[in-house]
Amino acid sequence: MAIQTVSTKPFSDQKPGTSGLRKQVTVFQKPNYLENFVQSIFDSLDGYQGQTLVVGGDGRFYNRQAIQIILKMAAANGFGKALVGQGGIFSTPAVSCIIRKYSAFGGIILSASHNPGGPDGDFGIKYNTGNGGPAPEKVTSAIFERSKTIDVYKILEAEDVNLDRVGSTAIGNMTVEVMDSVNDYAALMETLFDFEQIRQLLTSGNFTMCMDSLHAVTGPYTKAIFEGLLGAPQGTVQNGEPLEDFGGGHPDPNLVYAHDLVEVMFAENAPSFGAASDGDGDRNMIVGSNFFVTPSDSLAVLAANATLVPGYRGGISGVARSMPTSQAVDRVAEKLGVDCYETPTGWKFFGNLLDADKATLCGEESFGTGSNHVREKDGLWAVLFWLNILAVKGQSVEAIVKDHWATYGRNYYSRHDFEGVETAAANTLMEGLRGQLGSLKGQTLGSYTVDYADDFSYTDPIDNSVSQKQGIRIGFTDGSRIVFRLSGTGTQGATLRLYVESYEPDSAKHDIDTQAALGELIQIADQIAKIKELTGFDKPTVIT
Ligand code: G6P
Ligand code: ZN
Repeated sequence: MAIQTVSTKPFSDQKPGTSGLRKQVTVFQKPNYLENFVQSIFDSLDGYQGQTLVVGGDGRFYNRQAIQIILKMAAANGFGKALVGQGGIFSTPAVSCIIRKYSAFGGIILSASHNPGGPDGDFGIKYNTGNGGPAPEKVTSAIFERSKTIDVYKILEAEDVNLDRVGSTAIGNMTVEVMDSVNDYAALMETLFDFEQIRQLLTSGNFTMCMDSLHAVTGPYTKAIFEGLLGAPQGTVQNGEPLEDFGGGHPDPNLVYAHDLVEVMFAENAPSFGAASDGDGDRNMIVGSNFFVTPSDSLAVLAANATLVPGYRGGISGVARSMPTSQAVDRVAEKLGVDCYETPTGWKFFGNLLDADKATLCGEESFGTGSNHVREKDGLWAVLFWLNILAVKGQSVEAIVKDHWATYGRNYYSRHDFEGVETAAANTLMEGLRGQLGSLKGQTLGSYTVDYADDFSYTDPIDNSVSQKQGIRIGFTDGSRIVFRLSGTGTQGATLRLYVESYEPDSAKHDIDTQAALGELIQIADQIAKIKELTGFDKPTVIT
C-alpha cells in the first residue's frame, strides 16, 4: 500500500464558520476539495504521529465516501489508529465522549448539523481537539490559513474499509477500529442519570413519551437508550431510521421543522413528554403536553434542579450561556451564588470554561444544552436530564416551568430568522446598526429607554483571546434586550437573526402569548434596523 503525494491547488472558500466548514454536497464533491481541507487540518496540528483519531458522522449523503478518504489520509499522514463508528455513524456528542474516553489526539466529525442533507443538501466537516471539543479559533484560523496555500496532500492507496463490521483492520501502518456507535455514549449517560428511576417513570403506565429523531443520527441511540435500556414501549421513538437525506426533512428540532412531533404534542391527549434532536444529535427540543419549553428556559430549569440528578448532586460550579440566549439562567446562577458567563455564539467558546471548571452547565438559545461530561452540546443528555427531573418531581413539564417562572420571574423570549437574505443587504443592515451604536444610549423608543448599545466582544477569561463583532446588543433600562447577528452556519445567502427578550417578574402576567408580550420590542427592532426595508422580507421565515 503506497502513500501517494498528490499535487493540488488551494480553494479560497475553506474558512470554518460557527461550527466547522459547511458547504453544499456538490462543493465537497469537487476534486480535491475535501482532501485539501483534511490535509489543512493535519498540517495545522503537531504531534499526532502514532496517535488516535476518532472519525464519524451523522450519516448524511457523502458520509461514507468522506470517511474512506479521511481514513486513507490519516494513515498516510502517520496516525497510529482510527476509531470509527459502525456504518460511519457517530453523533457529535458521542465523538466527544469517545475522544475523551480513549484519550484520542482529536476527532473529525462529518455533519452539517441541522442543515438538510442529500445530493442537493449540505455537508460539513469539523475538527475536535483532544479535550473532545470543537477546535478553538486559533486552530480553525490556522486551518484556514493553511488551506489558502496548500499545494499537496497525502493519501494511502488502499481498499475501502468495511465500515459495517465491528472490529479491527489495518490500512498501511494504521489500525482502524470500527466501534458500536452507541455503547460508550450510553454507558456515560448511565453514570450521570438515575436510569432506574427513569425506567420506573417510563414503565409506570401514567407517563407517555414521544421522541422524534427526525430520521437523523440519534435513531440508533434513542432506540437503544429509551426503548432498550429504559424500557419505554416500542414506538416511543418516531422517525428513528437514519436516512441520507433525513427523509427530505430539515433535521432541526424546532417548532417549524419538527412538525411531526408538534402534531403529536399539541393534540388532545398528547403524551406527557416530547423531545426531538437534530441531524448530528447535539441539539434538543423539549416539549410538554401542549407546552413548548424555550431552550433558554430549559437551561435555567436544568441549572435550578441540577442537584436532583446523580451526576450533578454535588452542585454546579457555574453556568455559561451564549450572548443571544435569554438571561433566565443568570437569575438561577445568582440565587445559587455561582458565576454566569456570557460567551459568543458557538459551542467552542464554552470549552475553556468547562476545562477550567468555571462552568458545569452551558446552553444556547439555538436548542443546545450540555455540561462538562463532554465538550459538545448534547441533545439526548438534555432529554435524559429532563426525564430524571420529571421522575423525581412527579410534576408535568408545564408545572415545572411555571413554578420556575413563579420563583425567578419569566424571561419572554423569541428569535426571528430571516433566511436567504441577500448577503449585501444583510451586511448593509449590520453596518447601519453599527453606525447607530454611539447615538442609541439614552434614547427613548416607545415605552423603552436604551441603557446600552454595543457590538459584543468577548475576552476569554482563561486564555485572554478576544473575539470581536459577535452581534449587536441593545439593552433597555428594564432589562429587556434586542440582539442582531448574522448566522455563521448557513450556506446560502445570509441569515439574519433577531433575538428579543423581556423580563416579567409578576406571575399574574406569565400567561401572555410570547409574540404579543414582545410585540413592541419587535417593532422597535424593525424600526432601528430597517429589516423590512433592507431585506425585502415582510416577515421572518422561522420564529422560535
Ligand atoms: C451550531 C453551533 C451553535 C450555534 C448554532 C447557531 O449549532 O454549534 O453553537 O449556536 O449553530 O449558530 P448560528 O451562527 O447559525 O446562529
Ligand atoms: Zn447539530
